[in-house]
Amino acid sequence: MALVSTNVREAGELLKVGQLVAIPTETVYGLAANALDSKAVAAIFAAKDRPTFDPLIVHVKSLDSMSDYVTNIPEKARQLAEAFWPGPLTLLLPKKSIIPDLVTSGLPTVGLRVPHHPLTLELLQMLEFPLAAPSANPFGYISPTTAQHVQEQLGDKIPFILDGGECLVGIESTIVSFEQETPRILRLGGLRSEDIESMIGSVEFNLYSSSSPLAPGMLKSHYAPRKPLYLHSKKEMADRELDAEIGYLFFTKPRHVALHENCLVLAEQSIETLSNNGLTNSLFLQAAQNLFGYLRKLDASPVKEIWVEILPEIDLGRAINDRLRRAAVSREL
Ligand code: TXA
Ligand code: MG
Repeated sequence: MALVSTNVREAGELLKVGQLVAIPTETVYGLAANALDSKAVAAIFAAKDRPTFDPLIVHVKSLDSMSDYVTNIPEKARQLAEAFWPGPLTLLLPKKSIIPDLVTSGLPTVGLRVPHHPLTLELLQMLEFPLAAPSANPFGYISPTTAQHVQEQLGDKIPFILDGGECLVGIESTIVSFEQETPRILRLGGLRSEDIESMIGSVEFNLYSSSSPLAPGMLKSHYAPRKPLYLHSKKEMADRELDAEIGYLFFTKPRHVALHENCLVLAEQSIETLSNNGLTNSLFLQAAQNLFGYLRKLDASPVKEIWVEILPEIDLGRAINDRLRRAAVSREL
């Protein structure tokens, strides 16, 4: 089992000798290694059972260090970085040769972001190299939002998990590409596309891909629990009698329905502020924060299948629905 600890120095010492360390971020936990060391990076792919065609995101300590790793920073990319870093935003930019090809799966661009978590920022300040880190889950499974989630699935493959508590955003970063004239969002995520567009004007979307993904978060089947997951509209969820053998995930609590113990509710209408992160509360923020943990709970419960209420297609509801569609067996909604 991995050591679960808040000791940043110890995490740093392991990373310096090429070991893997799971790190907390505001989005999900990452499985980190020295991004400039191909051998350490290869160990990430092995631990996750991740195909090498799936490139990794590189975590840097600040906006200023971005130019150490990329050859060109378009104006709109810089504007976004200035506005939203540290935060749930990954920018795809042309890489310098110091970034090993394995990190980018041979692509000419590298995904960079500054994560918003005090322990991981402290860790990055300590180190002389950036950290390559995909989400710390076996390939294709639900991303981890607590140290415990990482321990359960990768604990026997890595020495150390830096425990930064529960992830406050709860879904992965939004990925933006600048290869075309108009910036393109390749993965919806924790930064809303509305916020991106209000900063740099309209963007394009290129979210779905099958065999040769630009971002495997783009693979149709991803983020999936082991049990079959079905999507339903709010009405469908409310109209049917609840079955004790089905696990249910509601957006908000349905009225006039007595919930059984395998019914979970993503957002509590009454809470005014989110715990200590200073973000304005919204039901969507709560839903994103709870999403992966609740899916894991239902996956671990004795139910036979999981029914999930699809959210309104606004705000973070879009990114949440994107994850749910990729996790679902039936994808009509
Ligand atoms: O919030 C996040 O982004 C988390 C935390 C740990 O930072 N990381 C994360 O990593 O979600 P991962 O590997 O699970 O997803 C990263 C996505 C992949 O779908 C990958 O294909 C895409 O980023 N990606 C990375 N570099 C890319 C590149 N050069 N071109 C296209 N897609 C890229
Ligand atoms: Mg992932």
